[in-house]
Amino acid sequence: MTTAATRAAELRRQLERANHRYYVLDDPELPDAEYDRLFSELQKLEADHPELKTPDSPTQRVGGAPSPAFAPVRHRQPMLSLRKADDEAALQDFDRRVREVLLKGSVDYIAEPKLDGLAVSLIYQNGVFVQGATRGDGETGEDITANLRTIRSLPLRIQGEAPPLIEVRGEVYLPLAGFRKMVADAEARGEKPPVNPRNAAAGSLRQLESVITAKRPLAFYAYAVGVSEGWAAPLQHRDVLRQLRDWGFPVSELIEPVTGADGCQAYFERMGAKRASLPFDIDGVVFKLDDLAGREELGTVSREPRWAVAYKFAAEEAVTVLENVEFQIGRTGAVTPVARLKPVFVGGANVSNATLHNMDEVQRKDVRIGDTVVVRRAGDVIPEVKEVVLALRPADARIVSLPAACPVCGGQIAREEGEAIARCTNGLSCRAQLHGALIHFVSRKAIDIDGLGEKLLALVIDERGVATPADIYLKLNAENLAALERMGEKSAQNLVKAIDASRHTTFGRFLFALGIPVVGETTARDLAQHFGTLEALIAAAESDAKHAEARHRLRIEREAEEHRTEKKIRRSDAERAPAYPQLQAVPDVGETVAASIAHFLAEPRNRAVIDTLVAPVEAGGAGIHWPAPKAAAEGALTGKTFVITGTLPGMSREDASALIEANGGKVSGSVSAKTDYLLAGEAAGSKLAKAEKLGVPVLDLDGLRTLIAP
Ligand code: IVH
Repeated sequence: MTTAATRAAELRRQLERANHRYYVLDDPELPDAEYDRLFSELQKLEADHPELKTPDSPTQRVGGAPSPAFAPVRHRQPMLSLRKADDEAALQDFDRRVREVLLKGSVDYIAEPKLDGLAVSLIYQNGVFVQGATRGDGETGEDITANLRTIRSLPLRIQGEAPPLIEVRGEVYLPLAGFRKMVADAEARGEKPPVNPRNAAAGSLRQLESVITAKRPLAFYAYAVGVSEGWAAPLQHRDVLRQLRDWGFPVSELIEPVTGADGCQAYFERMGAKRASLPFDIDGVVFKLDDLAGREELGTVSREPRWAVAYKFAAEEAVTVLENVEFQIGRTGAVTPVARLKPVFVGGANVSNATLHNMDEVQRKDVRIGDTVVVRRAGDVIPEVKEVVLALRPADARIVSLPAACPVCGGQIAREEGEAIARCTNGLSCRAQLHGALIHFVSRKAIDIDGLGEKLLALVIDERGVATPADIYLKLNAENLAALERMGEKSAQNLVKAIDASRHTTFGRFLFALGIPVVGETTARDLAQHFGTLEALIAAAESDAKHAEARHRLRIEREAEEHRTEKKIRRSDAERAPAYPQLQAVPDVGETVAASIAHFLAEPRNRAVIDTLVAPVEAGGAGIHWPAPKAAAEGALTGKTFVITGTLPGMSREDASALIEANGGKVSGSVSAKTDYLLAGEAAGSKLAKAEKLGVPVLDLDGLRTLIAP
């Protein structure tokens, strides 16, 4: 061999080894720059000595001359399909059949993820990849060799000892990250994005220009051997997979041996739980008889082997007819359009209702009553109407419009400018809002009344005249509760005890229980800690409301002036300062949250309920109370706000909070520009990243101790 030939061979070996480490083992060994350098050297050698070019050269991965068309390839061994099972009973049928034929009590299977991509056949002659084809109709596929060469995890040459001929089968797929990028790129160019990773992978593989395929981040998993010459096939499928791995093929790490139908079912459930966190789509799992001699015995019926089965996850999307749209009223009065559907089985459940979110969504999707729609149900998420099948729209499809009056109470429905959500303005006088508000009020993280569920709340509204949260304390007693349908005396007494116990609470829980829109548990706690007393909070809200009003006037005046003079006028400092300065001094409270608090507390009906809730029992109130705030400790940390994240060595977060507070500091839930320090333990995640981005100093426990006692 000439020196050029020797060098080319050496470069190919190094580059393919680096490829394997990077794309198959996910364990790179060569720096990118070094790879690029070797690659250029090989390209140049091949350009100078065209006779040195080989089909297994890594330079072939960047795509070559366009193929005129995809020539047909006749598979030497048909590429079969899989029989399907869609429930546990079908899986048990499959296993029973196998056991009956093999005369065995229990059978070992190899469980594999069913990748949602395209099956391909790869021919290696003397270890070199020479031809790759699609499955086609199972008998004849298309030659897509040039495109397959561009897939980095697909070996162009078998590692180690290779038989004269071997056909490797597996799945070409597009990892989700690559799919998302393709969607973003298509949208940026104003093109129609691919609908799912499978289609995107198929489109990429059937590109006539392999340079285009090379730009698509396709990947490959091997799962079987087809024809072979000069290869002593092992006795079990697990050893076939091991051999494939040793030859340098990527084989899924998720593959496991399992025993019997129970083992299969358990694997199916494990994969179902894992599915959402995988970097690629799987649409089910495949069980294959491990014993290869047993496969011969079982044979194949109508192109489906009897030794394998595909157990598919329940479809997450289905098509059905939208029969009506009704409007539900939530606890804050939000009006949600809900689709009433012709019942359809989707994602493992029968679905007859699906959310349409809000009127903007209805308009954006152009949903009309009578339409055929695609319904989506992912995991335990509320089913939603994903899109309309426009081609099937009937002539009499009816446009959906927001009702003028609340369907529950007849109250006025208002939609603030720029808001997606319309609301019933009747507050607790609207039974739907009252019911929702009470469910929230008694919930565990709020005032926490055990034993007062949704049905019972509906009953006490309708039969005991409960019209506000305070009425729970004022209108219910052991006698009138026991007289309710399906309430015993014992449970009535227990409930009265629970109601009594809830009178003693914390300021934070009380604030959360009020159900102020957009005030969650953390914000409620932060507000309680910041203001200490209800009086202080109300005073701040009232003063802020006036301030916001004044600022709003400034803005209107400026805009009027701009309009008159047709000139842009710089906003004054007063206009640029926070609208709600006292409320917005609380960690994580911005203008939206502050406005909601101020608005809620300015509403006389809300104030009346609050007054009754906290008035002493002797004065006719509900008697809700909480410990007076500890006078904020003065100390080294006074005026400093901390956020805690990660696991602190040897100290719980509660103890760390107490330590900070005992030294005058404050602890808040999330990192913002108002955070002074992030106390970070092990496995700190997004909060640490955010703190670093904002330039918030990060401390460990020792750092905190030094701050306290330098
Ligand atoms: S085995 C007889 N294993 O499913 C064996 N197929 O319906 C046939 N697939 O065309 C293939 N993951 O595209 C097998 N681990 C896996 C698979 C798998 C996905 C696809 C493949 C095939 C289809 C069969």
